[in-house]
Amino acid sequence: MLKNIIQGFKDRNKPRMATLQPLNKTIEVPRDQTLLQAALEQGITFPHHCTVGTCGNCKCRLLSGNVRAVLDFSYTLSEAEINDGFILACQSMLKEDVEVEIDVSDAVPDFPIETFHGVVKETSMLTHDIMEVSVEVDRPISFTAGQFADIGLEGFERHRSYSFASTPVQDGTKELKFHVRHVSGGSYTDWLFSEDRTDERFELHGPAGNFWLRPADAPILCIAGGSGMAPIKSILDDAITKNINRPVTYLFGAREQRDLYCLDEMQALKEQWPKQFNYIPVLSEEAEDSSWKGMRGLVTDFINDESTGMSLSECHAYLCGPPGMIDAALIELERNNVNIEQIHYDKFLDSRQLEKN
Ligand code: FES
Repeated sequence: MLKNIIQGFKDRNKPRMATLQPLNKTIEVPRDQTLLQAALEQGITFPHHCTVGTCGNCKCRLLSGNVRAVLDFSYTLSEAEINDGFILACQSMLKEDVEVEIDVSDAVPDFPIETFHGVVKETSMLTHDIMEVSVEVDRPISFTAGQFADIGLEGFERHRSYSFASTPVQDGTKELKFHVRHVSGGSYTDWLFSEDRTDERFELHGPAGNFWLRPADAPILCIAGGSGMAPIKSILDDAITKNINRPVTYLFGAREQRDLYCLDEMQALKEQWPKQFNYIPVLSEEAEDSSWKGMRGLVTDFINDESTGMSLSECHAYLCGPPGMIDAALIELERNNVNIEQIHYDKFLDSRQLEKN
């Protein structure tokens, strides 16, 4: 009897095994570690960023076995993804041995995450609450269009993540741009917006993130809101330099006309783009009697073949913006038969909830 109890105790503490496909590697996962922690400690290049269940970068598919979610996956993953067997490795404790599939085709071209020191060169307002911050770092940084960097300021405990708004340069660049939205009551952006911050110094860690344009011939549907413009603009500007020849429809959601920006840049892209390029701004709170002649409603109301002028089921979709917009867009894309594998997104976290503003 005692022997059985001791054996049961030993089994309960025995590490679980995780087989990672298509790497065909099996690792031990101690009972007090998540799948991601164990994989990283054992030198596996496992896509990840936040490690707290919010960015979705560690998403992988559970092929067999069972896990316990530390933080409910539905906070970050869509219903369709969960039904498809996706889990977040950073939030998964193993209940038993598992086999998971990491999408290695999804791995971003490899630029190491490094620390850079930078200085603010210039700031300019793009809208009433979005600022373009131009900076220079101490040595050239290479990144992939769509990725982001963590910016650390002296006096602020946590770093904040911002997507590169500028275009990557082959051998790296010291000059970068970011779009920063003012989150009222948020100490970080209150500080930035309260006075001229030219010459302020900061630390930058990056590049990071798994949001980038996958090679394919499929038409591209972009959907963004707020400062989600930055990575999409970077991707599209970069695509032009690479002669990418795919039709694009870009739905951009904003509240009012005063929230629209980069309109000239979108017009320039339309003129240069080698195929169809539709930029469709959609306003949700514009006054009825205003001069606005464009689309009104929620940007997600326009996710259909007719509004986008595309056969959505054939598209690859790139989404960037607040979680509510992304979640609603995922539902609409699924309703329009866009396969989950064809959708890539970057959720901008609610910085107040995460104390990241
Ligand atoms: S690393 Fe797991 S959700 Fe961000």
